[in-house]
Amino acid sequence: MAPQHAAQVVTVTGVSGYIGSEVVKQLLEKGYTVRGTVRSKSNTSKVQHLLTLSDALPGQLELFEADLLKAGDFDDVVRGADFVLHTASPFFTETSDPQKDLVDPAVNGTTNVLNAAGKAGIKRVVVTSSVAGRQCAVRTACTNMVLQCGLKFQVMLQL
Ligand SMILES: NC(=O)c1ccc[n+]([C@@H]2O[C@H](COP(=O)([O-])OP(=O)(O)OC[C@H]3O[C@@H](n4cnc5c(N)ncnc54)[C@H](OP(=O)(O)O)[C@@H]3O)[C@@H](O)[C@H]2O)c1
Repeated sequence: MAPQHAAQVVTVTGVSGYIGSEVVKQLLEKGYTVRGTVRSKSNTSKVQHLLTLSDALPGQLELFEADLLKAGDFDDVVRGADFVLHTASPFFTETSDPQKDLVDPAVNGTTNVLNAAGKAGIKRVVVTSSVAGRQCAVRTACTNMVLQCGLKFQVMLQL
């Protein structure tokens, strides 16, 4: 018998990350079909724990490659999903160029993911933000995207 929720497809960005990995684990435990994005599927140190989880838990996981900085990179992985959980974002503090290394990927990546979700008619998108996001461009980018596109789905900022 197929696991409960197997018919529901959830796209999760940044599944190699701390937040993304835990989100995938909880979805697989509940039996969801998960499409997870990583920058490189061949980077074993970042994906092996996900494959181990997928083998052990009832849900199904398929990995896709996508980069926040490449427009359109999330279109394929989002198309056909029921929900999108966007957790991919650079998350570190040591950089000499925070605009280039942190803000640009966060804003452009969120914009790319919301664009893909808008085109695909996704029911609900959850964007993982942070306390820093309360003051910065990511929240503004989300708000502007929703206003500009008249997106029909619900966007939640999860702090
Ligand atoms: N950790 C917390 O306690 C916490 C709390 C609240 C909010 N948040 C927010 O949650 C988000 C994720 O945090 P985290 O702790 O999970 O960070 P993390 O462990 O560093 O994971 C970041 C994820 O983003 C991906 N990523 C980074 N740059 C990318 C790019 N250019 N293209 C595609 N993927 C990219 C990483 O992929 P690679 O593996 O390829 O690097 C990784 O999967 C951040 O926005 C953070 O502010 C975190």
